Amino acid sequence: MIEAKDLEAQAEFVTRIPLPPERLDALSREILDLKRKINAVILAHNYQVPEIQDVADFVGDSLGLSQQAARTKADVIVFCGVHFMAETAKILNPGKVVILPDAAAGCSLEESCPDPKLKALQDTNSNFYTITYINCSAEVKALSDVICTSGNAVKIVNAAPKDRDILFVPDENLGAWVMEQTGRKMTLWKGSCYAHLEFTYASIMRVRQEYPVAPIVAHPECTKAVRMLADEICSTEKMVEFCKRTPAQAIIIATESGMIHRLRKECPDKRFIPAPADKCRCNECQFMKMNTLEKLYECMAALSPRVELSPSIIERARLPIQRMLDISAVK
Ligand code: 13P
Ligand code: SF4
Repeated sequence: MIEAKDLEAQAEFVTRIPLPPERLDALSREILDLKRKINAVILAHNYQVPEIQDVADFVGDSLGLSQQAARTKADVIVFCGVHFMAETAKILNPGKVVILPDAAAGCSLEESCPDPKLKALQDTNSNFYTITYINCSAEVKALSDVICTSGNAVKIVNAAPKDRDILFVPDENLGAWVMEQTGRKMTLWKGSCYAHLEFTYASIMRVRQEYPVAPIVAHPECTKAVRMLADEICSTEKMVEFCKRTPAQAIIIATESGMIHRLRKECPDKRFIPAPADKCRCNECQFMKMNTLEKLYECMAALSPRVELSPSIIERARLPIQRMLDISAVK
């Protein structure tokens, strides 16, 4: 069991061997030179390792990253996140080169929802209106009516036609939280984020006892037992807004550990305490952490691995993503 006093030290990533400072500086400079040479934009999710966040043009949540991907003028999109995120960027930019540091960076939510299984469920009810969390394959997006992220799921569900039966896939925890927020009944797919399931009632109670006045901010991919203990439940980008706004000087963060670097940069005067996982130091997403600064340099130098999708998938998957972007843009 991890002692609560070790929690802040734990914010330094445990599965990562840091680069020596000279190598880090040199590699970061080479990446920025290469970026100018190939006219690329580097987009990085909040869960990426600090050295990748530090060379990115934009660091954000899934919603912010898709909005950036939709408006970029760059010729090459370098997506530092997991595969479904780079796929989304390709769907929005079929004519551009989209690369990612490690093509094997998957997601447990994506794996939980294969498109033939989703199609079989959809075929059981012609009145289903499928709202799909962005954490899924391009094939699943192509079967969806509208896409959502954790940052806009409540808004997307509120905008859904009232006479349709909502099928919400693939994250049942996010879906359950959205049902509580909107009062809208939905059929939930039984998928989950393995990294957020590592937070438990017991692990959060332990950190609450250690830091009794610090508010707890949790991602909606956490279970209900964890969400019930949280003072704020929101997407990673909204966590930044909450932490800037709150008068609290110390905040407990129940999400993937990469978030701590972003928060420390945005709010340098505050303390961030990573919520502990129950039995292990595993509040890291193994998929997000497959990307390294070296792999980022290599993919930019080789313009590979690239995301390639069939024109028919791109055409069908684009519509529900565009619908999400349009609904999100309405004030
Ligand atoms: P957001 O980017 O919407 O905060 O979600 C976090 C996540 O789990 C991405 O894989
Ligand atoms: Fe998927 Fe969870 Fe990793 Fe996000 S943190 S990519 S939802 S496994």
